[in-house]
Amino acid sequence: MVCAALVAAGCTTGHPSAVAAPTAPAARSAQATSSGGASAQPHSTSPAPGAATSGDSLFPNDGNGGYDVTHYGIRISYDPATKTLTGTDTITAVATQALSRFDLDLHALTVSSVTVSNVSATFSRVADKLVVAPKSPVADGAKFTVTIRYGGVPKPYDDPALGFEGFIPEPDGALAQGEPQVAASWFPVNDRPTDKATYDITITAPSTLAAISNGVLVSKRANGADTTWHWVESAPMASYLALVAIGNYRVTTSTHNGLPVVLAVADSLPRSVDTALAETPKVLDFLVSQFGAYPFDAVGGVVHNDGRIRFALENQTRPTYAPAFFMTPQDSTTVIAHELTHQWFGDSVSVGDWSDVWLNEGFATYAEWLWSEHEGRETPKEQFDDIYKSGGLPLDPPASPTEATVFGRSSYLRGAATLEALRIAVGDDTFWRIVRGWAQLHAGGNATTAEFVAYADQVSGRSLDTFLHAWLYERGKPTYPTRLG
Ligand code: ARG
Ligand code: ZN
Repeated sequence: MVCAALVAAGCTTGHPSAVAAPTAPAARSAQATSSGGASAQPHSTSPAPGAATSGDSLFPNDGNGGYDVTHYGIRISYDPATKTLTGTDTITAVATQALSRFDLDLHALTVSSVTVSNVSATFSRVADKLVVAPKSPVADGAKFTVTIRYGGVPKPYDDPALGFEGFIPEPDGALAQGEPQVAASWFPVNDRPTDKATYDITITAPSTLAAISNGVLVSKRANGADTTWHWVESAPMASYLALVAIGNYRVTTSTHNGLPVVLAVADSLPRSVDTALAETPKVLDFLVSQFGAYPFDAVGGVVHNDGRIRFALENQTRPTYAPAFFMTPQDSTTVIAHELTHQWFGDSVSVGDWSDVWLNEGFATYAEWLWSEHEGRETPKEQFDDIYKSGGLPLDPPASPTEATVFGRSSYLRGAATLEALRIAVGDDTFWRIVRGWAQLHAGGNATTAEFVAYADQVSGRSLDTFLHAWLYERGKPTYPTRLG
C-alpha cells in the first residue's frame, strides 16, 4: 500500500480528476497578498476594507486580509437531537492595515451579534463571508478582539473533487474534519492556512457522549445533563486542523514520555481498533527518530465510524481516521505513520499556498515508506524503483496542482518520489540534514516549495534547482536520479 491516507478517492484507484473542477472562484483576480494586505491602498493610513480573499492560488475565497489572528476562543454547545450548534467565538487579532471593515469566513450558520473590542459592530453576510464593520476603524497595528455569537444547523461541504467534509452531523453526535473546507462550517474564522493561531476550544454536549478536540484537556465539568470539555491547543494551528468529535467514543488517556496521549475509538467499532490505535506512541517514537523532536505538547488519534469520509486527516495533535484504515494492523500503522508525520510536515510547518500541499503529502507518504522499511518490508528506494519502473510515477508535476488534483496521486506519490530522488542525488547525510533542518527552520510557521528548493540548495551547497524543477514542476517522467558528484 503506497498511499494510505486516501481510501479509493485518491492514490490507489486514481484521483477523480476527471470530475469537473469546481467553478473558478470569483475572487481569483482580486489583488491580495499572502501576508494579508489590503486590496485597496495598502500603504495609506486612511482606513479601508480588508481583502475578502486570501490570495491563495487554489482557494482564494477561503480566508481574508487586513488582520492577523493570534488566538481563537471558541465555545460551542451541540444538541445531537436537533443537530443545532450554539457558539461564541472570541477572536484576538492584530490589524495589518487601518481597517474600516473586514471579513471572516462562515458557512451556513446565523450570526446574532458581533462586537469589536467590546463595542457592538454592524455586520452582514455575503455568501460565505461575515462582513464586520466596527463602530470606529481599527488602527494599523492595533490588537483587537472580535466576539461573534452565532448558531444554527451546520452544513457540511460535499465537493465533487474534495469529498464530504466539514461539520458533519452523526447519529450520536457530530464530527468536524476536512481539508481545506471545514472550519467555517462551525466557527467564524480567517480560513487560510497562513493565518495560524492558538486555540481554546470548549465543547458542551450531553454527558453520555465524549467531546474531543485538539491539544490538552484542561477541564471537564458536568452541569445538569451536559458536560463541558475544555481543550487548549497552545501551538499555532492552521484553521483546517481544528477538530470536533462528539459521540459515543471509547476514550483512553495516558502519557508517553510525559506527553499526554488521547485516543478515541467509536463505540460501534470492534475492540481490535483500540489495539491498533494504541500503536500511536510506538509509531511516534519511530518518527521522532527520523524527523527530530515532536513539535507539539499532546498527541493522540480518533477513529470515527463514518464511512462517508474517504480520507484520514492530520488534525493537530489528534489525527482522525476513517474506519476503513483499521481493517488490518499493517494498514493502520501505515496510516498512523502518515498522519503523525503531518504533525511535522503540514501542521508544524504549514503550506504557504495550497499548491504547496506536496510538502505535506509527499513527506507523509515518504514516511509510509520509511515505516515499511522499519517493519522489514520494502525500503524507500525499493518503493521508488517499483513506481519508477512500473510506470506508476504520476506524470503530473506535484507542485502545480489544480483544485481538483490537489489531493491527487501526484502530491502523494510523486511528492514522495521527489524526496527519494533528492536522497539518491545528495546522499543520506545531506538528505537527512535537509529534512530535519526544514522541520526546525519553519516550525510553527508556513513555507513554500520555492523556499524548500532554496533550502535544499543551501544545505547541500549545490544548485539543485534544475534537478528539483524537473521533479516538481515539469510534466512527464524525469530521468532516473544519480548521485551528484
Ligand atoms: N491530508 C489528508 C491526508 O492525510 C487528506 C485530505 C484530503 N482532503 C479531501 N478533502 N479529500 O492524506
Ligand atoms: Zn496526508
